[in-house]
Amino acid sequence: MPALVLLGAQWGDEGKGKATDLLGGSVDYVVRYQGGNNAGHTVVVGDQKYALHLLPSGILSPGCVPVIGNGVVVDPAVLLSELSGLEERGVDTSKLLISGNAHLITPYHTTMDKVTERFLGKRKIGTTGRGIGPTYADKINRVGIRVQDLFDESILTQKVEAALDQKNQILAKLYNRRAIAVEQVVEELLGYADALRGYVCDTTLLLNDALDRDKVVLFEGGQGTLLDVDHGTYPFVTSSNPTAGGACTGAGVGPTRIDRVIGILKAYTTRVGAGPFPTELFDEDGEKLRTIGGERGVTTGRDRRCGWFDAVIARYATRVNGLTDFFLTKLDVLTGWESIPVCVAYEIDGRRVDELPYNQTDFHHAKPVYEMLPGWSEDISGAKEFSDLPKNAQAYVKALEEMSGAPISAIGVGPGRDETIQINSFL
Ligand code: IMP
Repeated sequence: MPALVLLGAQWGDEGKGKATDLLGGSVDYVVRYQGGNNAGHTVVVGDQKYALHLLPSGILSPGCVPVIGNGVVVDPAVLLSELSGLEERGVDTSKLLISGNAHLITPYHTTMDKVTERFLGKRKIGTTGRGIGPTYADKINRVGIRVQDLFDESILTQKVEAALDQKNQILAKLYNRRAIAVEQVVEELLGYADALRGYVCDTTLLLNDALDRDKVVLFEGGQGTLLDVDHGTYPFVTSSNPTAGGACTGAGVGPTRIDRVIGILKAYTTRVGAGPFPTELFDEDGEKLRTIGGERGVTTGRDRRCGWFDAVIARYATRVNGLTDFFLTKLDVLTGWESIPVCVAYEIDGRRVDELPYNQTDFHHAKPVYEMLPGWSEDISGAKEFSDLPKNAQAYVKALEEMSGAPISAIGVGPGRDETIQINSFL
């Protein structure tokens, strides 16, 4: 039975929550493998709308085991408040499993994130301010705090001391901030231990065992391909690997176990935070996409930057993730345009370029080369089959598929769970 990776093919916010949730009923485990509460998934179930940040979307599907893998960074305060919020709404959260090797976001990481951004001024990344970058930096610097440290006060204290030794110098001398007391951090973290203990286990062992027993495991990426620290628009990226390889390291499963890699692709493009975005619109079309598409961040409430579909990016996502399928979301948002521009290539300093430029300066200079596709005006939200779509909407999907290099196996035509056209099964 398959192990599937489901990830963002653009700059995040492609509608992954809906796609994961759609599959949730048929999968046994939904695993987050990177990122933290910088993510924001909106899932609509019946007339209920859920905004999830840290928890895997699978938590809303009874029968599915949600897993937070070792590659995730966990803010324990956020985790517990998200869990209690769901419990208050009657969602069973008892099946959740958390890797003991996942790293903890502590109050000093959030502080460092905010002061660093302020310090960068005009050069800031536009982070979510959730402490993601500093936590991953500590992990790589080998001064991070892991979930399992919560259960050993002596080790926890030593580790927090080691981390704060250096950070307090930076906070005081560079950022003119007050030092953070070790005891205060340790006390706060220990306060989460009892509530979390029951969820923590060796998730790597468990997931490999599940795959051995032919269970269906879905690895759910946060953010998107172009925000990947290796393959994205560095430095305007997040600090982890949302791309398919990240599922292996962030969950402890080998690449040979992955059967399908599904890229979630919005029918147009959005981005939050700073960094290059060739098809960005600054006119009323951009405003229209933002309004109709509800393009405001689930996590930060920031308006998303909006632009036309970029096939160069989609092709790149196919390449670096080895995509087997696309799930095209929010096609309904494009209803009502007479014709729809699609970026098929870039023009860079007078040259046509068909692939994502490897050089960052080239990417900053990239101007979209547009092809105009005819639009449609019919309401498509009730479409159940591909053939229910107006001819021009069908042609739009087919054109995107051709340009993007992998089959479009599902199409979102509205926010609800049922407003999806499934062309090929993912399982
Ligand atoms: P960080 O992940 O908070 O460090 O932010 C780094 C960059 O990634 C910023 O441009 C954020 O706006 C962006 N980012 C982080 N998480 C998301 C997400 O879930 N969707 C879209 N952009 C995100």
